[in-house]
Amino acid sequence: MENNTELKNYISELKSVFAEKSTIIMPALRFAQEKYGRVDDDIIEEISRNLNIPPVKILSAARFYHFFTEKAQARYRIEVCSSISCSLLGSEHIYDYLKRRLSQPGSGGGKNEFSVNRVGCLGSCGTAPAMLINNVLFENLNFEKIDAIIEGIKSGKDIDKILG
Ligand code: FES
Repeated sequence: MENNTELKNYISELKSVFAEKSTIIMPALRFAQEKYGRVDDDIIEEISRNLNIPPVKILSAARFYHFFTEKAQARYRIEVCSSISCSLLGSEHIYDYLKRRLSQPGSGGGKNEFSVNRVGCLGSCGTAPAMLINNVLFENLNFEKIDAIIEGIKSGKDIDKILG
């Protein structure tokens, strides 16, 4: 098992605040997903052990939500809206552009660096086309904005500060 010290410390902090251990399951899962990029068997066991809650209860919470994944996710998870408003305003071209741009050599699209997927409505139809990168919303997209976003990521900017 890898070192899950940060997770143990985080759970320990939460235990000092919350008397009811089951309320810690979700924040612990979220922490693990963000920190380690996944919620696998080791993580489930670690949370179970630290909360003294059966693994099956942790697992059922993790399986209920699609954003907890057993396999490591890409560092930057791009989700392009493909619902009607975004689609009418060219989200499919945005999706294709991202796929093409990130597959080029030297594009920054190294192994497990970026994933690009289509998703349903992001609730930002008035500013379509829209996409999320690691849950940060980008709106009114065009190719120039995509270039600026990718360059911002490559230069190490925080995702939520890339477009100012
Ligand atoms: S259709 Fe894309 S955000 Fe709603």
